[in-house]
Amino acid sequence: MIRNSSMWRLLLLIIAIAGIAAFAFAAQVEKDTYMAGFHQANGVSCVDCHEKNFVMDDSETVVNKKCVECHGSMSDMAKVTAKDELNPHKSHLGEINCSTCHKGHEQSKAYCNNCHTFKMDIKFDSDKKAEFADSADVVVVGAGGAGYVAAISAADAGAKVILLDRMPITGGNSSLAAGGINAAETSVQKKQGIKDDKEAMVEETIKGGRYLNDVQLVKTMVYNSAAAIDWLISIGADMSDIVRSGGVDYDRTHRPVGGGAVGTHLISVYKANAIKKGIDVRVNSDVVKIIKNDKGAVVGVQVKGKHSGLYTIKAKAVVVAAGGFAASDELVAKYKPQFKNTPSSNQPGATGGGIKILEDAGAEMIDMGFIQIHPTMGGDTKVLISETVRGSGAILVNQEGKRFVNELTTRDKATAAILKQTGAKAYLIFGEEVRKANKQVNGYIHLNLVESASNLKDLAKKIDVPADVMADTVAKYNSYYTKKADPEFSRQDMPRPIKEAQYYAIMVKPGRHHTMGGARINTNSQVINLTADVIPGLFAAGEVTGGVQGGNRLGGNAITDTVVFGRIAGANAASYAASVK
Ligand SMILES: Cc1cc2nc3c(=O)[nH]c(=O)nc-3n(C[C@H](O)[C@H](O)[C@H](O)COP(=O)(O)OP(=O)(O)OC[C@H]3O[C@@H](n4cnc5c(N)ncnc54)[C@H](O)[C@@H]3O)c2cc1C
Ligand code: HEC
Ligand code: HEC
Ligand code: HEC
Ligand code: HEC
Repeated sequence: MIRNSSMWRLLLLIIAIAGIAAFAFAAQVEKDTYMAGFHQANGVSCVDCHEKNFVMDDSETVVNKKCVECHGSMSDMAKVTAKDELNPHKSHLGEINCSTCHKGHEQSKAYCNNCHTFKMDIKFDSDKKAEFADSADVVVVGAGGAGYVAAISAADAGAKVILLDRMPITGGNSSLAAGGINAAETSVQKKQGIKDDKEAMVEETIKGGRYLNDVQLVKTMVYNSAAAIDWLISIGADMSDIVRSGGVDYDRTHRPVGGGAVGTHLISVYKANAIKKGIDVRVNSDVVKIIKNDKGAVVGVQVKGKHSGLYTIKAKAVVVAAGGFAASDELVAKYKPQFKNTPSSNQPGATGGGIKILEDAGAEMIDMGFIQIHPTMGGDTKVLISETVRGSGAILVNQEGKRFVNELTTRDKATAAILKQTGAKAYLIFGEEVRKANKQVNGYIHLNLVESASNLKDLAKKIDVPADVMADTVAKYNSYYTKKADPEFSRQDMPRPIKEAQYYAIMVKPGRHHTMGGARINTNSQVINLTADVIPGLFAAGEVTGGVQGGNRLGGNAITDTVVFGRIAGANAASYAASVK
């Protein structure tokens, strides 16, 4: 048995002599004081217990094999504890896994006492004081829009806040949002003489969501949207430009002056505020578990730091703002198998890192199969080709050079049609008229997403489409433009023909864009469990929640969701934390 071996003592001595190493170990121990931390203090590192990558076998045979290699099997251990009145290592349960009782990173517990009431103290179960390496009033999981807003709001309410993101940079999908943020009856609209109606925004959101939204959540989002714009302005954001988005009758999509991208702007404003307000923001920090006490209240999180290892943060309240899962092949295949081979417009961290921890914490997950596909992602990149390119006159043709759908149909129908074409792709075809009407096209050219030629024949050759068929398709479309009627696909709006050189082609494929489903919350952003009760201390906001967007999200409503519910979650988490002793 190694505990009697002088080899280990020698190893410990060498470690003790190496001052820097000893310091490193001390730092590690401070981070994790359970069995794993104790082992590290004794020179047993992460990989001595885990195989590479820390993959945990569900049967836990990997870890148990390691325990046995050093300590011996249950029957070996039974000899060590033979003197005990009741031998924990020898019972009618036989040869069970060591980690059934000895936990690596949480409180150990003798499994026998699920049925018995033996006095069976087990190491690493009582040192309550040393349980948590760090502490905060409010821990926020995920530093995208919703997470930053919640963290800032909680800090403003006086809470000590730690904000964690698994990626090496913060911002999440929020930093990619280019359109804007929807809000009704705002001070900015009033100043510009733009009329709007909150009730119309409620109705349009629900209609867009195919009447599957949680109406109370929609009302909360809409009624607080004007205040959200004022709040953003108060912390330094520019919301002075207003446009109209799809599916609505009002100009209510707010964005920075000149139509600048809303996401990058907001994230930089949030970052500056987080620094100013002393929020502890940590990257490379994957939250792997939400810890609850025996009354079911949230008491902290377990973090797997890329450099700092596994450690625990004690928290009075936790806000999960971990975003959606449109970048996860695995989760998409699980909830919507027909979308499993499509690319995604999302950042690589949008793999549902909040879904598993919320499920483990007992949250009810709703609407998980509602995944929005954007029909036109540029080529094989993550760059979205804006709907305005079609809106201002481009047509869609397939590899055979033919149109196959009304280009202006809804996102889901356009997507379904493209997926049926050769190679599950299509080409946006347009002339100089459309480029002139769309500043973004110059950006797509700069990004090498566009083929161009001075005549249609050369353009067809470049994209490997039969030139005569494409010439015929474009000629027919131009005649529909003149007649203002499209007998083939009933396209209503044909603002421009395709007549003027240069001619352009952009290869497009549908991509997974937004996940509407997630944890069920109430209008206080509290997370609801399977028996319709609130999970004490647990809040959520943003794309990780379900219900707000129903079966389909309108453009511009996601950022509204992150700001409105981020503020509610942050403020409520702070006041809940203040009520916890
Ligand atoms: C290309 C693109 C353009 C868009 N344009 C618009 C638009 O114009 N208007 C609009 O309203 N919406 C738009 N959307 C949608 C919108 O951007 C998102 O729905 C919204 O930003 C989600 O915000 P969030 O804070 O909930 O999540 P995110 O901003 O995605 O942030 C979640 C963060 O949590 C982190 N995380 C995940 N799991 C864990 C874990 N376990 N531990 C620690 N951290 C974790 C992630 O790394 C990420 O940084 C767009 C989306 C995309 C992809
Ligand atoms: C690389 C060898 C190694 C591995 C793997 C290992 N241990 Fe240990 N273990 C040690 C050492 C070294 C000590 C500290 C010295 C001692 O008390 O024997 C220790 C101490 C312990 C103690 C405390 C003993 C005491 O008297 O305080 C327990 C309990 C324990 N280990 C259980 C486990 C379990 C369960 C696993 C598997 C999850 C495991 N160990 C994996 C080497 C190992
Ligand atoms: C059913 C729960 C249970 C399981 C399973 C279990 N242990 Fe234990 N173990 C205990 C308890 C309780 C103690 C403390 C009792 C004691 O020290 O006498 C203990 C003590 C120990 C000790 C310290 C012994 C000493 O007295 O110094 C070691 C080392 C240990 N276990 C290793 C293991 C290993 C290795 C396995 C897997 C092969 C294992 N245990 C499986 C419950 C369990
Ligand atoms: C003494 C052995 C031991 C050491 C050392 C150890 N672990 Fe573990 N680890 C375990 C066991 C056992 C589990 C299973 C869950 C539990 O019991 O906490 C585990 C679980 C995990 C998990 C999954 C968490 C979960 O609950 O799903 C991660 C991640 C992990 N360890 C990372 C690490 C890292 C990083 C280190 C080094 C800082 C480390 N471990 C050191 C024994 C160890
Ligand atoms: C799932 C519930 C359950 C768990 C867990 C459990 N037991 Fe039992 N145990 C029982 C029941 C029921 C009996 C009485 C019926 C029987 O003898 O099988 C019993 C009987 C016993 C007895 C008296 C009979 C005998 O076999 O000597 C001992 C001693 C005992 N258990 C020890 C343990 C120990 C030690 C553990 C943990 C390693 C443990 N039990 C875990 C349910 C459990």
